[in-house]
Amino acid sequence: MTTPVILCIDDESILLEALKCQLKDYFAGKYRIETVESAEEALEVIEELQEDKVELPVVICDQIMPGMKGDELLIEIHAIMPATLKILLTGQADVEAIGNAVNKSNLYHYIAKPWEPTNFNLTIKGAIEHYYQEQKLVQFYADLEKKVAERTQELRKKNEFLNMAVHDLKNPITAIQGFSEILQCDCKDIDDDEVIEIAGKILTSSQQMFNLVKNILEVNAIELGKINLSFSKQDVLPIVQGLVKNYTTIAKAKNIQLQLNYADDKCYTKVDTNSIYRILDNLISNAIKYSLPNKRILINFDNNHDKVRFKIQDEGPGLSDADQQKLFGQFTRLTPQPTGGEHSTGLGLFIVKQLVEAMQGKVWCESILGHGASFIVEFPRVD
Ligand SMILES: Nc1ncnc2c1ncn2[C@@H]1O[C@H](COP(=O)(O)OP(=O)(O)O)[C@@H](O)[C@H]1O
Ligand SMILES: [Mg+2]
Repeated sequence: MTTPVILCIDDESILLEALKCQLKDYFAGKYRIETVESAEEALEVIEELQEDKVELPVVICDQIMPGMKGDELLIEIHAIMPATLKILLTGQADVEAIGNAVNKSNLYHYIAKPWEPTNFNLTIKGAIEHYYQEQKLVQFYADLEKKVAERTQELRKKNEFLNMAVHDLKNPITAIQGFSEILQCDCKDIDDDEVIEIAGKILTSSQQMFNLVKNILEVNAIELGKINLSFSKQDVLPIVQGLVKNYTTIAKAKNIQLQLNYADDKCYTKVDTNSIYRILDNLISNAIKYSLPNKRILINFDNNHDKVRFKIQDEGPGLSDADQQKLFGQFTRLTPQPTGGEHSTGLGLFIVKQLVEAMQGKVWCESILGHGASFIVEFPRVD
């Protein structure tokens, strides 16, 4: 950091030199003592200090100078550097000037000429201490203001999240309520097939609610930093194979073909098994959910680099650049809609990103609108 400056202004060069010597004896090393002989020069120096972001804790200025007087100069300096402490050197008859400087430049002190060196140095020392205390306070309030703004933003986000969650829970609850009322009031008039159909609808709505609540709890745990990850060296291939097997039936219902490609039989990385399962489950289910029937989904898996990389590539609608920007946010339901009546919470990819990053990985999407989407996940490889 650059050395802070003490600036002395006096038109009498002998006095100025004496001032400099005295201040140097006391403050040398910690402060640079600058001297100028006129108000104009002083303003130039101050402009330079400001440009170079050099601190100016104290200005000591003579009152009686040709041209601009000391009190007027201090008022100008105050407008440029309000935090700088101003000290006026005066004769006996300068009461009016002192009053002016006190009122308009927030004068810290005046020192009558001739001064006593020890008292003078103590006054300057006091001014410097005062300056740094004020700076600390300013910094403290700035930090406090920043923290309050951040917290307010967090609370606002939490509130928005709560609103969205409640809004999304309302639909299945309303459905369950409606269907239950039908069963309760009209049970004598409806046949068994209809009862089974209505019970099925109640079950679907309950499952939607369950999924949403599960996702909300997961997001909440992530935000509170409460996801418990237990890292261990894992061969992740069986996890992917298991998931592909699980999803084959669901994909078949849409006549979608799931294809898993990999080069090596074993692939090790240090991850949390549950999380890797959740991540791939989300990405594979999305690929199926947003693809039209009769398409293909490729799941590529390689560990040729220093990374373990999964790529889930679909032939679905793809995503516009604008949609891609929002993909990993909360409650983001974008232009592509589920193609088989599946439920959508808009929380899946947010959870994916948080889990991936918690495991020092990276996830991103590559897509051209109308030409499918690829979601890529990378983790550091462990041999
Ligand atoms: N493979 C994909 N192809 C096209 N759009 C997708 C794909 N995956 C996700 N999206 C879009 O991103 C949004 C957010 O996805 P996600 O967070 O998983 O939530 P959800 O699947 O519950 O809607 C989806 O609503 C969808 O519009
Ligand atoms: Mg999803």
